Amino acid sequence: MSSPDTVDRHDEDALKEVIAEQLGASRERSLGLTTEVLAEADLVAQVSPLMSPLVWDLAHIGNYEELWLLRGAAGADPMRPEIDTLYDAFEHPRATRPSLPLLPPGEARSYIATVRAKVLDSLASVRFDTADPLTSGGFVYGMVVQHEHMHDETMLATHQLRKGAPALLDPPGLPLEKPGGAAGAGEILIQAGPFHMGTSDDPWAYDNERPVHLVDVPAYYIDAEPVTNAGYLAFMEAGGYDDPRWWDPAGWEWRTKSGKSAPAFWTREGGRWLRRRFGRTEPVPPGESVQHVCWYEADAYARWAGKRLPTEAEWEKAARWDPVTEHSRRYPWGDVYEEGRANLGQQTLHPSEAGSYASGASAYGVRRMLGDVWEWTSSDFHGYPGFRSFPYKEYSEVFFGPEYKVLRGGSWATHPLAIRGSFRNWDYPIRRQIFSGFRCARSAGNEGEGR
Ligand code: AVJ
Ligand code: FE
Repeated sequence: MSSPDTVDRHDEDALKEVIAEQLGASRERSLGLTTEVLAEADLVAQVSPLMSPLVWDLAHIGNYEELWLLRGAAGADPMRPEIDTLYDAFEHPRATRPSLPLLPPGEARSYIATVRAKVLDSLASVRFDTADPLTSGGFVYGMVVQHEHMHDETMLATHQLRKGAPALLDPPGLPLEKPGGAAGAGEILIQAGPFHMGTSDDPWAYDNERPVHLVDVPAYYIDAEPVTNAGYLAFMEAGGYDDPRWWDPAGWEWRTKSGKSAPAFWTREGGRWLRRRFGRTEPVPPGESVQHVCWYEADAYARWAGKRLPTEAEWEKAARWDPVTEHSRRYPWGDVYEEGRANLGQQTLHPSEAGSYASGASAYGVRRMLGDVWEWTSSDFHGYPGFRSFPYKEYSEVFFGPEYKVLRGGSWATHPLAIRGSFRNWDYPIRRQIFSGFRCARSAGNEGEGR
């Protein structure tokens, strides 16, 4: 499939071809997570107050597309103005969505199909105006494609929380690159010095990734790979969950009130740990990146290990900066997306093992920065210096503040179009239904004070 990375951003026809293709791919994915695999009752059910009924996500995807691409880019009249409020994420928090008069699955599916047909019809006549930041480089279309993929990942989290018969299957013949031998190569030293954080010229980047700015980062070590299940189990077996020394005060409060003592979906059975994954129960694979841990757990593990979580700048420098050419790459390996260099795009339904994807290493040799698991950083979610909200405040600006922690790198469930080295995600530090893991860092010259 063609990628926006290889298209001349001023070649409007080529961009439109990529856009049409990518819109088709995201829709195929959305339907494969909803009407194609679940019965009506499962689509309207709410599996957790943290999640929307899947049929809400489905119609919301189409409503967002109608707002931005039909009423916005194409100047069309509203199709069904009365439903806008139902699918406005700010008017109705997730927990309340099942009680709304939502479009039933069949109607939702035909509504989003009608929107899509009109979008494809109007695409030929829309002009991508380099003076208009909304259409320049096809930005607003890229925003809508990314939005659909983000909701697809959210829908995967809903599937993971579902009880009952499995609806999603592991693909046969995994395309995963096998461990390359140098598994868990320890830590990598990143020398002190400035790097370019964020971007100003990536046509489909979000407002919160902008503008590019120079950040001077003191020398630090960063783990070459994310923390594995085996590594995390060592923390558990060392009594990590019962020792307040390792926990942030708010984290200790979460730990004691919640009673949690293992990652989400883990259960202990006869001396071994099992996990439930998309409706099946299986032994926890030791080499895979640990996932479904919250920020507090990641932070406690890091302190126990004598380390800390990387700051967002440390994460991004290790992932993107090429100290030889003094250039921040779009991906760890270069500026163009290449299949097979990261576990992205729901090729599998789980993270890969330590040692995998050596070909996806960054200039510094840090592995698996993209894909596998979202990585918690120590940083709160804020705008970069010179931040300007675009095209709407509710995408990111309203979430700026100390209550959200930044996650980086995407997961196995993230589509390649919805991730890059500069991409920023955020969530509450207690959240663990997302595909979240972490790696550790430490300041160079400081050996830490853990175990
Ligand atoms: C960027 C993943 C935090 O899911 O809340 C979806 C993305 N924005 N619809 C979210 C989003 C609007 C957002 N995250
Ligand atoms: Fe949304």
